Parts: sequence; C-alpha cells; structure tokens
Amino acid sequence: MKLEDIKNITVLGAGAMGHGIAQLCAVSGYNVVIRDIKQEFVDSGVGKIKWSLDKLASKGKIPADLVNAAMGRITTTLDLKESVKNCDFVIEAIPEILKLKQDTFKEVDAVAPKHAILATNTSALPVTGMAKATKRPEKVVGMHFFNPPQIMRLVEVIYGDKTSKETAEVTYNLALKIGKEPVYCLKDIPGFLANRVMNPPGNFLAWLVSEGIFTAAEIDSASHFKLGNPMANFGLMDFVGIDVGYHVQKFFEEKEPPYKVAPILEEKMKKKELGVKTGKGFYEYPEKTWRVPPEWSQDKAEKFDPMNSAMVAINRAVQIVADGVASVEDVDKAVQLGFNMPFGMLQLADSQGLDNVVKRLEELDKKYGKIDGLHALLEPHPLLRKKAEAGEKFYPQ
Ligand SMILES: NC(=O)c1ccc[n+]([C@@H]2O[C@H](COP(=O)([O-])OP(=O)(O)OC[C@H]3O[C@@H](n4cnc5c(N)ncnc54)[C@H](O)[C@@H]3O)[C@@H](O)[C@H]2O)c1
Repeated sequence: MKLEDIKNITVLGAGAMGHGIAQLCAVSGYNVVIRDIKQEFVDSGVGKIKWSLDKLASKGKIPADLVNAAMGRITTTLDLKESVKNCDFVIEAIPEILKLKQDTFKEVDAVAPKHAILATNTSALPVTGMAKATKRPEKVVGMHFFNPPQIMRLVEVIYGDKTSKETAEVTYNLALKIGKEPVYCLKDIPGFLANRVMNPPGNFLAWLVSEGIFTAAEIDSASHFKLGNPMANFGLMDFVGIDVGYHVQKFFEEKEPPYKVAPILEEKMKKKELGVKTGKGFYEYPEKTWRVPPEWSQDKAEKFDPMNSAMVAINRAVQIVADGVASVEDVDKAVQLGFNMPFGMLQLADSQGLDNVVKRLEELDKKYGKIDGLHALLEPHPLLRKKAEAGEKFYPQ
C-alpha cells in the first residue's frame, strides 16, 4: 500500500488523544470515522474538534471554510464493525489496557479490509502485543503522538517484531501528510525514544532527594537559576501530578531491572501528596495553582550542578543508538520535539566533548552508583567510551 491509497481513516477512541488525531486527519483531507463506546464520549470529542477548529479559524491559522469542510469529513459510530468496514488505516487511541487493546485489534482484524494498516497510539505497551492478536502482524505499527496531538509535532513510528518496512513507511508518510514530524523507532522497546531518554533522569534526581544528598529545592533552584528552566524538575512533577510521573517510573521498574522507582515518589503516592492538585507535592500550593516555590533561591542553586541529570539522558540516548533502535538524528529529534528541548542529547554530548561526558558519568557512578539501580544509569555506555577514546563525535563536524 502507498500513502495515496489512504482515503478513509478510522480513529478508535474520542478521548484526549483520539479527538485530536481525528482533527488532524480531517483537516488534511481524509474521511474520518470516530468510534467510541458511548454517544456522550463521541459527542464530547466531536465538540472539542469543532471548538478547536473555530479557534484556529478565528486566529487566522486555518481558512474559515476549512472548519465546515473538515467537520463534514467526520462521521461517528458506536459500532466497531461499522467503523472499520471501509477503512484504509486505523489509529487506535483507547485506554492503555493491553487486554482491551488486544480484543479490539482482534475484532478490527476480522472486519477491516485486508489492505488496511492498524496503528496503535500506545505510550508504553508493546506494539507486538497488539500485533499478535491479529492475522496481519506485518500491518500493525506504533504511531505514538504526543499530547496535545494538534500542537505537539512529534510522532514516533514504532516497528513491532513483525511490522513490514512498507507499513512503517506508509505510517511515516501519513504522519508527514497530517503535518507532524515523524521519527522511526526500529525496535519495540520500553518507552520508545523520547520517554525512554527523558524519564530516567527525573528518577535519578528523585533518588538524590530520597537519600538526603540534596533537597528538591537545591536541585530545582540550580535548574531554575542556572539553566532558566521555569518549573525545574520537581516543580514540573508537582504541576503535572506526581502520580503521572510515578506510573512512568514504575513502568521502567517493571520492564528494566535493576531500575528502581525512587522511594520519595512511593512516599508521595502513599501520602497522596500528588502536587498542585492536592495542594502539596514536593512543595506546598495553598491556592492549588502552581507558583514558583518560595524555597528556591540563588544560594541553593550553587549546591547542585544541573547538568548531572543531562548526563543520564545522554547515556540513555547513546544506548538507543548502540542498540540500533534509532538513528542519531531521530533520537535527538524525538527528545527535542517530545520534550520541547532546544537541542537533542547527542548534540549536547558532542558540545560537551565525549571525553568530558564519560568523565562526568564516571564521577557520578563513583558517588551514587551504589544506590539501588543507579549504576545501570550512570555507567558510561561502551559506545560512548569507544567514541570518546577515538576522539569521535555523534555528528560529523
Ligand atoms: N494522554 C496522553 O498524554 C497520551 C499521550 C500519548 C499517547 N497516549 C495513549 O493514547 C491512548 C488513549 O489515551 P487518552 O489519553 O486519549 O485516553 P482517554 O481516556 O482520554 O480516551 C480514551 C477513549 O477511548 C474510549 N474507549 C474505551 N474503550 C473503547 C473501545 N473499545 N473502542 C473505542 N473507544 C473506546 C473511552 O471511552 C475514551 O473516550 C492510550 O493508549 C494512551 O497511553 C496518551
């Protein structure tokens, strides 16, 4: 199948991700069928699409006549079979429950035309798990959007164990067609690219707080005052919800021993100190709105080097490249677009000098490597050492 063969796209789930993805497809000229399990969920999703398109038109970001044209291309149904009977491409965005997704993929596989590609927007489940539920595993692929999909430009195109090159390429081209910037994740690994690189550094910092080595305010003050990071690390966790970050860390703990969630995160979960929404997380929020914590100060900023956590991210990015999971360019693009970073981690490594990165990781490993699970994050990756010794960089100079 080629990109030009796609006319009809089915989006399963009209929730936070599904409605945004459906909007992108309809705006780009595709006929879109949205399926959810209750009329109120479908109506809510379609209502949000209309609201969003009206807003874009009122700001002059899309032509006014595109609102009705795009809305006219969207139909809805509660019937799964009906939703996929004429589709060329399915994007599944239903809750993150493997059994639910597998049952859905099995049902879709039985009804959808043989040529149709079945994509999953899962954040963390193995794509191969969904593929196994079908008789067309070569046509099952990961298509991981970031929230909100209308705004975030990144799409990770993930190969399951049996995904064909043709399927991945059509999916990549579709992502381009709907205005996104795709990257390839060539293996079905936990966390894919952006989350795999950028979540472990937060856990590393949480371990330093758990062990009483630094306070959250010292680490955050350094990030805020020295790097200009507005919410810093723990401030951002409080803003997003500590429970959200906790579940991601728990996921890595399950998938990648000896990875271990920092005890401070477990404690916060137990005490239900989940951040802004509960009035207390790492800091207190009497108004239940985020504010710069009064504990942050220039003095505290001097106690911590905020580049320490970047070293962990660099090490993870190197591992991805060494394992043949993604190109240097794609792993950097994923981090930049997925986490709104000004540069990728391998660009950062090059600019720091790979020998310096190795040296810093060795120092961190010596200081903190005995802490549960941290050695695996801090031991310089062999590829990093090899390149440093050879005086090489990740990007050609
Ligand atoms: N929210 C995010 O930040 C984010 C980012 C990237 C990926 N994802 C992934 O996207 C998927 C959806 O997440 P979400 O945040 O949009 O969830 P959500 O809860 O907002 O929406 C899911 C929708 O799916 C519907 N649904 C449940 N069972 C269904 C079925 N059998 N068929 C059709 N619809 C069904 C629900 O009623 C709900 O409306 C998950 O796999 C999630 O991991 C989420």
